[in-house]
Amino acid sequence: MKALRSAGYFSVRYGSGDGVTGAAAVLLDGRLVNSDTMLVGQATGHKIETVEGLAPTVGELHPIQKAFIETGAILSGYSTPAMILAAKALLDTNLNPTETEVRDALSGVLCRETGYVKPVEAVLRAAAYLRGEDVPPYDGPTIVDASYFVETPPVADDQDFSGPEIAGSQSPITTQTKPQTDIQLRTGIPETQVVGKPEAKVDAVKLAKGNPAFVDDIEMRGMLYAKLLTSPHAHANILDIDDSEALALPGVHAVIHYKNVERVKYASGGQSYPNPPPHDQVSFDNKVRYVGDRVAAVAADTPEIAEHALKLIKVDYEILPAVFDENEAIQPGAPVIHDEADTEGIHNADRNIVHRIEAETGDVERGFAEADYVFEHQYYVHQ
Ligand code: FES
Repeated sequence: MKALRSAGYFSVRYGSGDGVTGAAAVLLDGRLVNSDTMLVGQATGHKIETVEGLAPTVGELHPIQKAFIETGAILSGYSTPAMILAAKALLDTNLNPTETEVRDALSGVLCRETGYVKPVEAVLRAAAYLRGEDVPPYDGPTIVDASYFVETPPVADDQDFSGPEIAGSQSPITTQTKPQTDIQLRTGIPETQVVGKPEAKVDAVKLAKGNPAFVDDIEMRGMLYAKLLTSPHAHANILDIDDSEALALPGVHAVIHYKNVERVKYASGGQSYPNPPPHDQVSFDNKVRYVGDRVAAVAADTPEIAEHALKLIKVDYEILPAVFDENEAIQPGAPVIHDEADTEGIHNADRNIVHRIEAETGDVERGFAEADYVFEHQYYVHQ
């Protein structure tokens, strides 16, 4: 994957670096393989195909690309080149695939946005193009095979609605996903030129052709590459940083950290102006508060030089007691994560409580009294 991308084949995308996402798929002698789990030497003497080679002329589209665009099987387009190659590997050997065969062919490529209904439709449509059929204009989505969708079993009157145990329990409640197949599409919509009609996404051609479209695809003349040194400790003061060896490495242009970057406070929530308090962040601090917290950054001519330079930065840590659980974090005497003097507006810094929000609408007690079921449990979310 790295060799192909550095040669300008940006349709080969980084997914996870270990083949799990399938985003880095290429065809090796016509077979779909993950290029991120291959060494260059393993490809020597073999034919590699990427989406760039399907229809190299400007304005030209391979039938599979055309079908993906027409059916709207592209959202971000990140997974699209891999899906198109998976489709090609299938259709090169089987022009009459069943839906099951199409689903199987696409199953190694994870798509987090479009999902699979439209790509399946696109591959079946592409097969019709490749068989030389007269394919009618695309007329909106159809459910290809509704048997894939599981009906939710009816709820019994005596079903146990007690809250699920969090760990190691045999909860009677399971979760099912069921698309609303009873939605009626395109009925009663007045005849207009655009509304109610399938419309190709404005950047669909670019994405279907695997052209540079994402931040990682940007390559500018003289561009430097940045790498971040992050904390191996959950809680520590940084007593000193020595960047002299890293700076002396040929190809390194800058090393930045708390000693040479201005301390500008901001909030990390990502809200726009006015950025709400507490402004408890700086670009680089002399304290780290979690494993992976920012310590320093290197800018260098190549990612490899930047990576090497990170190893030459010497950091003197004073390791502090850490806390790993929010309930422990609010106990009196717990390690204080934000003890810096220049952060204002933390609700209770000594107990690590950044905000306290109370909200109530209507008559809550009456609502509970009138409810058929009352669920009481402690719920954990990932943020
Ligand atoms: S990951 Fe975005 S379209 Fe599949």
